[in-house]
Amino acid sequence: DRFLASLAALDDAVPPPHRVADRFAAVSPSRPGHFENTPDTDPAVASNRDMVRAVLARVPGSEVGVATIEAARVTSESQLDSRLSAAVAAAQGWGALTGKERGEILHRVGEALEARRADLIEVMASETGKTADQADPEVSEAIDFAHYYGELAAGLDNVDGAVHVPEKLTLVTPPWNFPVAIPAGSVLAALAAGSAVALKPAGQAERCGALLAEIITPLLPDPGLLTLVQVEEQALGRQLVGHALVDRVVLTGAYETAQLFRSFRPDLPLLAETSGKNAIIVTPSADLDLAVKDVVTSAFGHAGQKCSAASLVVLVGSVARSARFRNQLIDATRSLTVGWPANPESQIGPVIEPAAGKLLDGLTKLGPGETWLLEPQRLDDTGRLWSPGIRDGVRRGSAYHRTEYFGPILGIMTADSLDEAIDLVNEVDYGLTSGLHTLDPADLGTWLDRVQAGNLYVNRGITGAIVRRQPFGGWKRSAVGAGTKAGGPNYLVGLSAWQPAESHA
Ligand code: ALA
Repeated sequence: DRFLASLAALDDAVPPPHRVADRFAAVSPSRPGHFENTPDTDPAVASNRDMVRAVLARVPGSEVGVATIEAARVTSESQLDSRLSAAVAAAQGWGALTGKERGEILHRVGEALEARRADLIEVMASETGKTADQADPEVSEAIDFAHYYGELAAGLDNVDGAVHVPEKLTLVTPPWNFPVAIPAGSVLAALAAGSAVALKPAGQAERCGALLAEIITPLLPDPGLLTLVQVEEQALGRQLVGHALVDRVVLTGAYETAQLFRSFRPDLPLLAETSGKNAIIVTPSADLDLAVKDVVTSAFGHAGQKCSAASLVVLVGSVARSARFRNQLIDATRSLTVGWPANPESQIGPVIEPAAGKLLDGLTKLGPGETWLLEPQRLDDTGRLWSPGIRDGVRRGSAYHRTEYFGPILGIMTADSLDEAIDLVNEVDYGLTSGLHTLDPADLGTWLDRVQAGNLYVNRGITGAIVRRQPFGGWKRSAVGAGTKAGGPNYLVGLSAWQPAESHA
């Protein structure tokens, strides 16, 4: 009972607004308790399976977003200046609305995203290779962001002791791996906070960004409030990030990209969610069947291309010494169907580009003392389709221990005790997600006291954070800049400037 109670306490880890220990304590949803997470498409319902099949049939020739992204290409500095100036002009009226008024528009965006769920799945599958079972929850997450930030926006009107001052222009630079949920969340948060937005989609997911803009822009009072900009040239990218009209950048991407942005403009207000090298610890008391399932899902979902993915599993004591966990892990991983997303059977899709460099090394080379439990196989000539791999015997401090590979590879480490396992987890430079499988409350206490990561999951996979319930963001090299958590109660606060109420006439 004590154990279940401690898990319930974790579930409730989003503090109710009155317990948020900061000066913006009054920032809370306008309709407390109203927010509900959006359900995914239930594959048990035959008509839903038909819908997904119809979407996937359109994937090979999909042209969703093409025209919009072509119109958004910026090829000169003067073009960039005029796009950003138009956005800043639109910000004036938008920032003057109340948060509640902006929030109402966000709720309409949430409804529009639901209405376009099929098109959003189509564009993700066709452009980035995401399988439908991974793309569908991403649409749900985008809808959740719209409604949740819609509610939080109203809270910005009622802050004791501080006046909310919207930024004029927020630049959003999302990644290709969550090409709908992450740009939607960042764009909608900035809009909710009263800012205009320039959205620069990732090069590998630009049609996804274009479709989002097609859905959101018509619902805004001024089309300039969401400006899609695509820049190809590196020099123009530098101009965009360092542009004097940009007040803040919301980046989700590699730690190195955040450093690069900072080198363009050292004083840049940056809110960056960056890399991860995440582990799940499995202790002797764990439910091993559940642990195997959660490790496989977290390691290989979306071919391991998630900042939240499990790249390491640390087996403790008797779990490390016996063959049972390893054998079940091999069987479960072998049972996954690898294929292109147009095939509804595919569970693991392609990697975003032909494997090269660091990823190719991770898929093909072993470090000292390592052996393959399952050696990754290249499945076709594209270089993008790989069967998942598992390496055993990963050593402390090795390249595999410390490097983020962003692909379908899992490494096994072993430890004699939970404390030693936590040391291995904490030794990496990043601290994004972390998992523990145990049925022992003492283990849970030790781990919660010591582990260094932003999102902690017990007896569950470590990917797929749910808006409001599991605000998402890390520490150490997994966050650069403001570091407030996406999908959490303080995210909008972190996207605005504030003035003491008494100094505001
Ligand atoms: N928010 C994404 C997840 O939790 C990255 O998997």
